[in-house]
Amino acid sequence: MTIGDAMSNAYDVAYQRSIEDPEGFWADAAQEIDWITPWDKVLDDSNPPFYRWFVGAECNTCYNALDRHADGGRGDQAALIYDSPVTGDTKRTYTYSELRYEVALFAGVLRAQGVEKGDRVIIYMPMVAEAVIAMLACARLGAVHSVVFGGFASNELAVRIDDAKPKVIVSATCGIEVNRVIEYMPLLNGAIDMATHKPEKCVILARPQAEVAMKDGRDVDWGGAMATAEPAECVIVAATDPLYILYTSGTTGQPKGVVRDNGGHMVALKWSMKNIYDVDPGEAYWAASDVGWVVGHSYIAYAPLLHGCTTIVYEGKPVGTPDAGAFWRVISEHNVSCMFTAPTAFRAIKREDPNGALLAEYDMSGLKSLFLAGERLDPDTLHWAEDKLKVPVIDHWWQTETGWAIASNCLGLHAFDIRPGSPTKAAPGWDVQVLDDNGQPVPAGDIGAIVVKLPLPPSALPTLYQRQDLFREKYLDQFPGYYCTADAGMIDADGYISIMARTDDIINVAGHRLSTGGMEEVLAEHVDVAECAVIGVDDQLKGQLPVGFLVLNAGTTKAGDDIVDEAVQMVRDRIGPVAAFKQAIVVERLPKTRSGKILRGTMQAIADNKEWKMPATIDDPVILDEIDAALQTLGYSDARS
Ligand code: COA
Ligand code: AMP
Repeated sequence: MTIGDAMSNAYDVAYQRSIEDPEGFWADAAQEIDWITPWDKVLDDSNPPFYRWFVGAECNTCYNALDRHADGGRGDQAALIYDSPVTGDTKRTYTYSELRYEVALFAGVLRAQGVEKGDRVIIYMPMVAEAVIAMLACARLGAVHSVVFGGFASNELAVRIDDAKPKVIVSATCGIEVNRVIEYMPLLNGAIDMATHKPEKCVILARPQAEVAMKDGRDVDWGGAMATAEPAECVIVAATDPLYILYTSGTTGQPKGVVRDNGGHMVALKWSMKNIYDVDPGEAYWAASDVGWVVGHSYIAYAPLLHGCTTIVYEGKPVGTPDAGAFWRVISEHNVSCMFTAPTAFRAIKREDPNGALLAEYDMSGLKSLFLAGERLDPDTLHWAEDKLKVPVIDHWWQTETGWAIASNCLGLHAFDIRPGSPTKAAPGWDVQVLDDNGQPVPAGDIGAIVVKLPLPPSALPTLYQRQDLFREKYLDQFPGYYCTADAGMIDADGYISIMARTDDIINVAGHRLSTGGMEEVLAEHVDVAECAVIGVDDQLKGQLPVGFLVLNAGTTKAGDDIVDEAVQMVRDRIGPVAAFKQAIVVERLPKTRSGKILRGTMQAIADNKEWKMPATIDDPVILDEIDAALQTLGYSDARS
């Protein structure tokens, strides 16, 4: 439909109303939530550029996710299924009544450790049911959880401890990566040693795969504490109170604490389940992600439960646990109707089982749709998934900051034609526009900075934790009146959006968001490194992979290869294995502009064997030949073809 046509479908009607009458639109959506006290105002716009939703309302997120279903006819329905191929096919189903009981009990454990409304609790756990139980227990108490992904190293955890200042940390003795046991206690102890802030207590889930080494006086055994705990009731919170903080990569090693509130978050997520994913209460919805990422927060822990669905906590990989049929097994065994994951997971499956032969072993008839997000969905992967699964494969675009999709084919409203490379149109609530460097709208089809006109819809971040100034500086100042997504792209004449690249130094590795600046900060600390740069190069499996360039101090006697090995290890130790930083090269010099800016974009184009122009301001063009030659030794640049 072009602008000016009569509105022809439910999406157009919903979208237009959400932009013209956001208060009416979201007030209607909010009827789906049980409130303790209604709001005074749907949208408080008295302090732009800061906005708050459902001001004056009181509620409890855990009540809406569990109690109202447990007491409202879904008590015996499966709420959460834990499925763990890495622990010998362990499976456990929690009904809504059982999950409510476990969560209330664990809330009692936290309360016994002194956790009250507003206190922060860090959750550093593998993909076990207890991770979701801990999140919901915090929500029950009005405590603010901050989940830290298990693939981050001690230093990253320490940075988050010092920022969030948790009263309690909840962790486990180990995680399991396919068949490798990752001991968590050394990582946790290391982080607490490094951090200035010390938590009062750590509640540790003992897993049989790793020995328990509790610290006297600090550590509390999860099982023991549950045995004597008193269940806790839901605590009343304001809709605008924080539910959680989720740290995400910024342009430096200092992560940004994205805050999510209670009321707006519930309203948007509940609305999204039917209108975007076209899922009904009672169906099984599976997000194959990790609770450490925003997808895990929104679509493993909260949205499916708010909607009365069954959610799946899967402790395994798309391949290797035990094979490339793992996803099909989970879908058929638990009758999943809608699945959500990152394209990289499908690339991994496609690589191992290109013909999808393993699909024949499973009954996939219950699957209605596949949603993908977290990185660009390449057309090959899209077509492969469509061809093999024979269901709509929907690319949708979102960010940690937004908490739900900014753009999607909203299947519950209207299924538009799929155009490869585009996450379709802006979701209702999001006034997405493309601006040039001067903040002027660009013509349809032209590339520019993708921004969203304020106010953002419910569930989008109201601020960064204790850093309103940084929130303003990073997201709101560049284009006054708009939220800057830091993605570049375009909107065509039909309203289809394309996301082309980040405008900052963020790269996307296996659907994980990482800062090259953060990696450079680590590399720069190597005693022999004078200067460095990290770029993201295209990778067929993970989308992008980081590659480091190291310029050594004059007079360094150590072998370059040894320095590279040490540098790789440093990034693994400081940021974590998830950075997937395994490649670095020693070079004589880095290409720069005359003003000293490193030409990372040009280096990236050379690595990816893409067309590039000699930058007019380059200091010394010969350096690019040296970079090209170095990249070829790693199999990039010309060596790709
Ligand atoms: N705890 C400890 N280590 C972890 C970890 C965790 N929770 N998650 C990942 N790691 C480790 C991996 O074991 C790997 O270690 P290695 O370098 O010793 O091999 C490293 O971090 C990199 O992990 P990853 O990039 O995930 O690569 P992989 O080769 O293990 O798996 C895929 C590749 C594609 C199978 C995997 O990335 C995947 O399943 N992705 C799904 C998408 C997803 O979850 N996206 C999240 C947003 S929706
Ligand atoms: P994260 O905050 O980890 O969810 O990462 C958000 C970033 O991932 C976005 O800013 C985009 O750069 C990228 N991204 C997420 N979804 C998509 C998508 N569907 N297509 C292209 N890029 C995406």
